Amino acid sequence: MTEPPVLPTPTYAVTGATGHLGRLAVDALLRHGVPARNVFALVRDPGKADDLAALGVGVREADYDRPETLGQALEGIERLLLVSSPTPGNRVEQHTNVIRAADAADVGMVVYTSILHADETENALAPEHAATEDVLQASGLPFAVARNGWYVENYTGRLDEYLADGEIVGAAGEGRVSAATRADFAEAAVSLLIGDIADQQGYWELGGPGFTMSELADTVSEVTGTKVVYRDLAPEEFTEALRGAGMDDATAEFVTALELSTARGELETDSPALENLLGRAPTSLVDAVRAARL
Ligand SMILES: NC(=O)c1ccc[n+]([C@@H]2O[C@H](COP(=O)([O-])OP(=O)(O)OC[C@H]3O[C@@H](n4cnc5c(N)ncnc54)[C@H](OP(=O)(O)O)[C@@H]3O)[C@@H](O)[C@H]2O)c1
Repeated sequence: MTEPPVLPTPTYAVTGATGHLGRLAVDALLRHGVPARNVFALVRDPGKADDLAALGVGVREADYDRPETLGQALEGIERLLLVSSPTPGNRVEQHTNVIRAADAADVGMVVYTSILHADETENALAPEHAATEDVLQASGLPFAVARNGWYVENYTGRLDEYLADGEIVGAAGEGRVSAATRADFAEAAVSLLIGDIADQQGYWELGGPGFTMSELADTVSEVTGTKVVYRDLAPEEFTEALRGAGMDDATAEFVTALELSTARGELETDSPALENLLGRAPTSLVDAVRAARL
């Protein structure tokens, strides 16, 4: 009987690797047994990546705004996780720089972190993600788009504030948010990256179990023992409250627009894709709130 051939492990790179999601993705690659020598952390500032280097992974400079860094960063990389840039306004150009460099470097698979329903939602953040998806599609590179829902940390990161105020104030109405932890989204992105390319290509709507803001308040109350309620405001009132708290006009309007997107149900999905990619249920809201309390 002949043994099946041992295939060499591909080389993987993660952009934005000094960020929250990027670090978790590097961790997930290593946990999946990818040897550290096959993993490359692409970072804007290598000075911030000592902890990544200590893991034994390669650290390479890769600045979305400086295409001259991207060719070298992607040399020899077979599979790339392109973590979307955190700066709305420049993102299409930044992501296009990376996709062009990936094409020039003959990268064999790109996974891009997008937003839920990118091609059909009215969410103000979506146009740049949809445009990036189009660039990816037009590049001819094999790709998978992880259309991520909201991070549950967008809420659990404000736990102290909720507890101090005894309320969560918003304009999201009864809209449900299929949020999941960054760790689960990172794990799912890595699952797309390391899997069989033919099976993984395409668009994946990723979200955890949905909850309304009132249900979030109930969960916070239950886990912490401190009563927190959800107070829903009319959009103008909410914008005014944000301004009153010191937010500039443009940001207050932007944040209100995101709340209204939630109210319209645009951050909700009933897709089982996240659970399928993880091979388990996504982390529950209760567990995420508990973890944030530790
Ligand atoms: N789904 C959600 O709820 C949600 C919420 C927030 C953001 N996001 C999106 O998801 C992405 C990842 O989230 P995260 O929590 O990991 O964000 P994060 O912690 O802010 O990390 C963003 C990463 O992007 C890097 N970066 C910024 N400008 C860059 C440039 N010009 N070239 C190369 N790298 C650059 C940052 O590098 P430095 O370490 O040098 O700053 C950082 O490593 C965000 O960038 C954003 O697009 C999603």
